[in-house]
Amino acid sequence: MEILHVSAECYPVAKVGGLADVVGSLPKYQQDLGHIAKVVMPMHRMKFLYENEWVVDHKGNINMGSRNLDYTIIKEKENKLGYDLYCVDIFGLTDREKVYGYDDDTERFTAFQIAVVDWLSKWEHRPGVVHVHDHHAALIPFMMQHCFDYRHLAEVPTVITIHNGQYQGWMSWDKSDYLPSWDSWQWGKLDWDNMINPLACGVKCAHRVTTVSPSYMEELMSDANGLEQLFVMERGKCTGILNGIDVAVWDPQKDTYILDNYSVDDLESGKLLNKEKLCRDFNLDKEKPLFIYIGRLVGEKAADLLPRSIQDALFHLNSRMNFLILGSGDPDVEWQLEALKGPFTGYYNSQIGYNEKLAHQMYAGADFILMPSRVEPCGLNQMYAMRYGTVPVVRSIGGLKDTVVDIGDAGGYGIRFNNASVWDITYSIHRAVELYDDKERLQAIREQIMRIDNSWELSAERYINLYQTIR
Ligand code: GLC
Repeated sequence: MEILHVSAECYPVAKVGGLADVVGSLPKYQQDLGHIAKVVMPMHRMKFLYENEWVVDHKGNINMGSRNLDYTIIKEKENKLGYDLYCVDIFGLTDREKVYGYDDDTERFTAFQIAVVDWLSKWEHRPGVVHVHDHHAALIPFMMQHCFDYRHLAEVPTVITIHNGQYQGWMSWDKSDYLPSWDSWQWGKLDWDNMINPLACGVKCAHRVTTVSPSYMEELMSDANGLEQLFVMERGKCTGILNGIDVAVWDPQKDTYILDNYSVDDLESGKLLNKEKLCRDFNLDKEKPLFIYIGRLVGEKAADLLPRSIQDALFHLNSRMNFLILGSGDPDVEWQLEALKGPFTGYYNSQIGYNEKLAHQMYAGADFILMPSRVEPCGLNQMYAMRYGTVPVVRSIGGLKDTVVDIGDAGGYGIRFNNASVWDITYSIHRAVELYDDKERLQAIREQIMRIDNSWELSAERYINLYQTIR
């Protein structure tokens, strides 16, 4: 089967969050299963673009409102990612250094989607499925079904995967003429609460809807930033499929970013060497349990609770642990985290920004990873961490709930808590410190989590099975 993935991000071309990791790796595993998977994304001006060779695949022209736009589809020449990668270039719109965050994001992503559908309409054959990811690509099923020029694509199966339902791509109705001339009887498919809501439209129009974990699918029925009723109504075509991780990229035995490679057989010495280096680099004490946080510093991830939790834990537990934070986001949280460096030198450090190499070193060198998320559709960091023998300390939500079992339960290997609160976080840190002191148990748990198979194999197949249920 031929699968076309449409996404704003794809690792290693452009990454803001987990979406990129998923779109970067799922197609590889689908290819391994004997299918043809392709990815199309906007041609952001990223390093990957300049460092690789490209060929022009197609040139076309589209209208968006009163604007007439030329677009070019280029294809990476050497199949470096293991599948065909296409980028859409639209002069003045996709040619930016960041993926998101511009005032004209609505125009940029609408034009991107129109160009993708226009290109698709010129193919001599039809793909087996068009698989769109998040709201930046969510208008595509509507366009294929209800825009007059593209109705010959209406029968092509479509799937939307929701990696994050918080962002929906809202646009006001005065922008409805951005879409290529469409059947106005279908306005209800675009509308939610008097706005054009691309994510809601994707859920209504796609043949199947998936989220990146079963628990998150359930949660969306009662907490979906306004779309709860929609998910309840459409639940018949909704499924949760847990993300996998790219075990070739996240492999402590082969990882070139880390100081010392290790496997489950020499895990104790391997982790220790990596921890020593990390602690040296960040002026921390290698004898104490090291807790890390990696990710965006935003409310969704409950990063605002970190400064207070870290302070309380260090204070009440007599500084029996160390913390290292890597991430960027809310300026206020960034500032608070940076401010802890002074009073807690030797116990605490942070680096504001995004650093793939350091992230790998942290997974390898840490003892525990903190993920207090308020919303976590899947979460990949806990799975990366476990692969490196780092124990997850997570809130019981979404994909975290589906991938971590508490040490208090049969066969458990992580620490879970219920509320996104300073108290729950510090209490969990306390439990983790106790586990750290029980060396034998810790060692057994590390071995156990390193052996857990969170690879894509199973989930990649689940997607294929899902595509096959359409018609
Ligand atoms: C988003 C979600 C995260 C998920 C990722 C990949 O970033 O917030 O939970 O793991 O997408 O699906």
